[in-house]
Amino acid sequence: MTNKTISVYASWDINTRVFHWVNVVCIFMLSILGLIMLNKGSIGISGAEASIGLKTIHTIIGYVFAINLIVRIIWGFVGGPRARFSTLLPGKGYRQEVKNYTASIKAGEPRTFIGHNPKGRLSVLVMFLLFTVMMVTGMVRTGTDIYYPPFGGFAAKYVAAEGVSFKDIKPYDNTGTDAEKMDRLKTFKKPYGTIHIYTAYILWVLVLIHIIAVIRSDAGGQGTLISAMFSGRKHLPREPHDL
Ligand code: HEM
Repeated sequence: MTNKTISVYASWDINTRVFHWVNVVCIFMLSILGLIMLNKGSIGISGAEASIGLKTIHTIIGYVFAINLIVRIIWGFVGGPRARFSTLLPGKGYRQEVKNYTASIKAGEPRTFIGHNPKGRLSVLVMFLLFTVMMVTGMVRTGTDIYYPPFGGFAAKYVAAEGVSFKDIKPYDNTGTDAEKMDRLKTFKKPYGTIHIYTAYILWVLVLIHIIAVIRSDAGGQGTLISAMFSGRKHLPREPHDL
């Protein structure tokens, strides 16, 4: 029989909630800019200046995304139990947990959780991995494309021809560069761009699945998941399995 009593539990701490919403805004803006960069030809944007401008804005938002992510990763090791990566890792008995959870949904009385449900845990972990790949590949690309930190100084020093200061190396301009080294840099940076774009595609699919899953679980009687990411308090209709 369904127990309709609603209890309120402290779920996500303030750091986790701030990370989540800053991350949402950054990914939204980075994706829009990324899509513009990908389709600039068909929307009538051309020229080196426009490309540099788009990459610069994308990079500046990328820095906010990266700082937010790094703080969250640190918090994942030192923060409270619901923020820790150790609680996300699928340990012993994980398969059974997923089976029980799925069976409870089918039976019409879904198990509830103060933190993530077993499937959510894995998807969050995968998303963190993808965020990290986006951050690292993005940093390499911004360093090698437009000579922005943290790697831009190294890239500019590498391609500068003998007797030319790295400070005089400009993006989209071969003046003062060593042609052979420029070619080598091109070969080096190519796979980072490929990984960046394909990871973005995977991330977009996962984000979509994440949004659908959260809405379904909220509407399907598994607690107030969405409002908890604002308030830090989750209302649950049954005793949680991760007390
Ligand atoms: C989840 C976060 C991110 C998403 C969804 C994203 C998405 C994209 C997309 C779709 C492109 C277009 C690729 C192309 O034109 O070939 C792109 C390019 C780029 N991104 Fe990101 N990005 C993210 C994070 C970052 C970060 C953190 C940085 C660095 C701070 C960064 C730096 C760049 C640079 C420099 C380019 C141009 C590279 C190129 O022309 O291939 N991105 N990004």
